[in-house]
Formats: sequence, C-alpha cells, structure tokens
Amino acid sequence: MNRNPVIPFLLIMVFGLGLIFFLSLEGLGNSEEMAKEKEGGEKTEEAAGEFDPEGHYKESCIGCHGGNYEGGAGPALKGTKLSKDEIKDVLVNGKGSMPAGMVPAENADAMAEWVSKLK
Ligand code: HEC
Repeated sequence: MNRNPVIPFLLIMVFGLGLIFFLSLEGLGNSEEMAKEKEGGEKTEEAAGEFDPEGHYKESCIGCHGGNYEGGAGPALKGTKLSKDEIKDVLVNGKGSMPAGMVPAENADAMAEWVSKLK
C-alpha cells in the first residue's frame, strides 16, 4: 500500500485547527460571561448610587458611635444639637479624633440630614 507521507501532517493540522476553533469558542463564551458580570457590576453600582445612610452608618460609623447611636469612642448621635450643616462639616472634614471623609462628599448632604433626624 502506498501511503501518502503527508497524511499524518494533515491529520495533525486538522486536529490543531479543530483545537484552536474549540478554544476560541470557549473564549467567546468566557468573554460573554465576563460581559454579563460587568453589566451586573454596573447594576450594583447603580444600587449603591441610591445612597442609604443607615447602611452606610452600619459600615462606617457604628464602631465609634454605637449600634443605637448611643455613642462609644465618639459622642452619641441621637438627638444631636448640631445643625444639619454642622453635621455635614463633621462628616466631610472630621472633628477631633473623628476621621475626615467618612462619607463621600456627594452623599454628605443626605447623611447629615439623616443624622440630624436620629432620635
Ligand atoms: C474612628 C471613630 C469614628 C468613626 C468611624 C466615626 N466617628 Fe463620628 N465622631 C468620632 C469622635 C471621636 C467624635 C467627636 C469629635 C470631637 O468632638 O472632637 C465624632 C463626632 C461626630 C459627630 C458630631 C457629634 C457632636 O455632637 O459633636 C457626628 C455628627 C458624627 N461624628 C457622625 C459620624 C458619622 C455619620 C460617621 C460615619 C459616616 C462617623 N461619625 C464615624 C469618632 C468617629
């Protein structure tokens, strides 16, 4: 039998091409998944865009001002005598041992409003 010596190379080539094709399909699937994750990420950012003062308090303030705003390392926030603007100033610029920038500037207004209404 006269076997063509090129055939094994052709087989390898076809196999290689098939492999490349398969891997690129898999890559496509991955990139679609990544795109979806990215969309999802943007959605959670949007949700975070609706600023939630109470949630932010639990993340950033509770350690110093207490679970019931009763104070701890920092003074009680319940029934504070500070005006909304004074509170905003504390939130943005800090005060004494309270660190500055505890609330992102664009949310300071909403946070101050919320703090001023704590009872
Ligand atoms: C590292 C501890 C710490 C964290 C975290 C912290 N604070 Fe404070 N805060 C303090 C201290 C201490 C003071 C008192 C500063 C002073 O009067 O010298 C204070 C003061 C304040 C005051 C003024 C109260 C008053 O009657 O003078 C407000 C309002 C306030 N904090 C709100 C917040 C909010 C809202 C957060 C979270 C975004 C927060 N703080 C996070 C320690 C903290």
